Amino acid sequence: MANAPVKKVPIHLQSSQNRLLIKNGRVVNDDGMEDADVYIEDGIIKQVGRNLIIPGGTRTIDATGKLVMPGGIDPHTHFELEMMGAKSADDFYKGTRAAVAGGTTTVIDFVLPEKGQSLIEAYNNWREKADNKVCCDYALHVGITWWSPSVKKEMEQLVTDQYGVNSFKMFMAYKDAWMLDDYDMTRAMETCTELRALPMVHAENGHIIARNTEKLLAAGVNGPEGHELSRDEEVEAEAVNRACVIANQADSPLYIVHMMSKSAIQALEIARRRQKPPVYGETLAATVGTDGTHYRNACFRHAAAHVLSPPLRPDPDTPLAMVEALADDRLQLIGSDNCTFHEKDKELGKDNFSKIPNGVNGVEDRMAILWQKGVNTGLMDPCRFVAVTSATAAKVFNLWPGKGRVCAGADADLVVWDPRLERTISAAAHRHAVPFNIFEGQHVVGSPQYVIVNGRVCLDDGDLRVAEGSGRFLKTPVNSPYVYGGEAPSSSPQPQRETPTHSPSKISNGNGTPD
Ligand code: URP
Ligand code: ZN
Ligand code: ZN
Ligand code: ZN
Repeated sequence: MANAPVKKVPIHLQSSQNRLLIKNGRVVNDDGMEDADVYIEDGIIKQVGRNLIIPGGTRTIDATGKLVMPGGIDPHTHFELEMMGAKSADDFYKGTRAAVAGGTTTVIDFVLPEKGQSLIEAYNNWREKADNKVCCDYALHVGITWWSPSVKKEMEQLVTDQYGVNSFKMFMAYKDAWMLDDYDMTRAMETCTELRALPMVHAENGHIIARNTEKLLAAGVNGPEGHELSRDEEVEAEAVNRACVIANQADSPLYIVHMMSKSAIQALEIARRRQKPPVYGETLAATVGTDGTHYRNACFRHAAAHVLSPPLRPDPDTPLAMVEALADDRLQLIGSDNCTFHEKDKELGKDNFSKIPNGVNGVEDRMAILWQKGVNTGLMDPCRFVAVTSATAAKVFNLWPGKGRVCAGADADLVVWDPRLERTISAAAHRHAVPFNIFEGQHVVGSPQYVIVNGRVCLDDGDLRVAEGSGRFLKTPVNSPYVYGGEAPSSSPQPQRETPTHSPSKISNGNGTPD
């Protein structure tokens, strides 16, 4: 794999804690669990097994009774994104710090160019915003928000090793802003097929939303409840089906972001049976952890804080249905779509719901929310939890097994998860830039005790100690074997149960020679 890091980890960060042993834990991967110790050196997992021979002076973390899992990969964040006249509040520092606090050690954010803007220019802007702020590794998707021959050329450039992008998001909603019509979306997907990249789609019918919004406002419905009324489940499901048809016609794989309803999942299920190139569905912590009844809360601040697109659904069965779909592989991944806005920004839509900037928190609580709703309820086992929160994202975006797996040679991005740790989620304690949390008051059992990012202990028995700018940009090469077939990288480069007789060579994935 050619996932070369682009930035050097500062020496002062490497030297102090370069050797670490996590002892007596239960190692969880997407395909199995074993009782094993994990030895880390210079940011890389060197050995996984029992009776390891460890150099003196190595720091030891006792993980008795704990699970040792690959750090979470959040495939969907929007840090310092300008949209709808506002800028999202969590920047790349606060956002990645919140991610790490919750057990996520890689995020993939979206470069979203203005219509008419050069994609490369927008990409460079994102790199400038992020590179010196990120506390964990990150990669980038790029939005295709308009179409022309020059956009196609720039897609061809972006997938090269110089830029390292393998995924492009298209919007079927946000009419007059980012929305593409079906012709342009077909052209963009065909280009993804040619480049062996992955198209991602925001699936909602933007024309219907625009018309429903006009009708609702004319009828005097201008509060946040109008947001869901203007774009109900059918509006999402129609677009899911249409996106799948377009991908099939373009002979392209497809990744549908933020799937928010039972109807959308049904449409996806039919497409997954029907078409040959794979279709992946992502849902969000928001829809697993809360619901659309909040849009009717009398407090504008409260209701508006829940506004995102597609919206949370008022159907009270939706959160459970989402977890069940994640458990039985009708959905494949869970992201956060973290895109927080300050209250003063949400107030842009005080008199018109269609002007409320879209977005919620989730990057910090994604793992704990799914653990609570999925694992504690018995709906999924820890292996499936690892699959949907980490391993599958690593495979789809071609970061695997350097990311998303606990094995010798992988990056030392790990969570020591305490399944008994109890806490109540609250804005009073969270790390987001905004004083509101859509999961406020929820009691969760199971949270990270230690979070290790590239070998550094960043959450140390509950103490958060991140270093601004220590994360690196990850290039995501095209032609992911998981998506496009072909020879997949070995999942287990070293036998995990035996004591290695030599230091295993590392995977050339996240921690090669810094440039
Ligand atoms: O409401 C949302 N989802 N805000 C972020 C932009 C997007 O569509 O992902
Ligand atoms: Zn979207
Ligand atoms: Zn309130
Ligand atoms: Zn999003």
